[in-house]
Amino acid sequence: MHEDNYAVAVPFYDLWHEDGHVPAVREQLPALLRGVRRAVIEIGAGTGLITEVIARRTPAEIFAVEPSLGMRSVLVSRLASDPEVLRRVTVLPCGALDVAVGEPVEAIVMISVLQSFSAGERARLWRVLAGQLEPGGRLVFNWRERAAAVPGELAVMASYRVGRHDYEIAGQVIEVAGESVTSRFRYRIKQGGEVISEDEVVGTNHWPAGELVASELERAGFARGEGSDGLQVWHLAK
Ligand SMILES: C[S@@+](CC[C@H](N)C(=O)[O-])C[C@H]1O[C@@H](n2cnc3c(N)ncnc32)[C@H](O)[C@@H]1O
Repeated sequence: MHEDNYAVAVPFYDLWHEDGHVPAVREQLPALLRGVRRAVIEIGAGTGLITEVIARRTPAEIFAVEPSLGMRSVLVSRLASDPEVLRRVTVLPCGALDVAVGEPVEAIVMISVLQSFSAGERARLWRVLAGQLEPGGRLVFNWRERAAAVPGELAVMASYRVGRHDYEIAGQVIEVAGESVTSRFRYRIKQGGEVISEDEVVGTNHWPAGELVASELERAGFARGEGSDGLQVWHLAK
């Protein structure tokens, strides 16, 4: 069984990320998937916010890889609201390093997932993804240079009204070691200022420099293509 680090974040996920990276990806991704017709793998599909974009903007079959039971549950519920999309999306309950769809796909989309992989895992990730793509196939992922993280105090990052309740997300960087950043996130539900539910997660993400990611991809047989502001496109050698 896979440890579900995302479980406590699930009720907060769409609220927070509709407010974060999702609108820009929704706008930019369709152009980068132009011409894709047959098959796409989405790595770390989460609750399906991006799956929905791929499904609406391409006619392709989609293999949505999502290891978290909580995130996957919302994903399948979202798909269930559209029978045509439900027929085209296969949800794979595994991590990216174990993905094997049995036929080469035209594109792999990976949005806000790269940080989950340590340097050693990334080396395996690029090999696995190259093995799933057709020659010349494209890998699309989001990327932005970030200011170096520094340990600090817990601070409220966002709060959303849901009926009579406030859903509040607070975060804190605890430790930084090279590209690896360990953070604490606290998820609270409040009613009239009183906390009625509280969960915390501590986890480590990895934020390699852009040039390092580029050199890893080149070593794995990818060449950089034309991306957009926040999205990179890499093509597997033909
Ligand atoms: C920040 S969410 C992004 C979800 C979605 N792509 C989006 O943009 O809304 C990161 C997702 O990656 C998934 N994830 C974490 N480790 C993974 C792995 N090794 N393989 C595939 N997915 C992974 C998490 O379970 C989570 O759903």
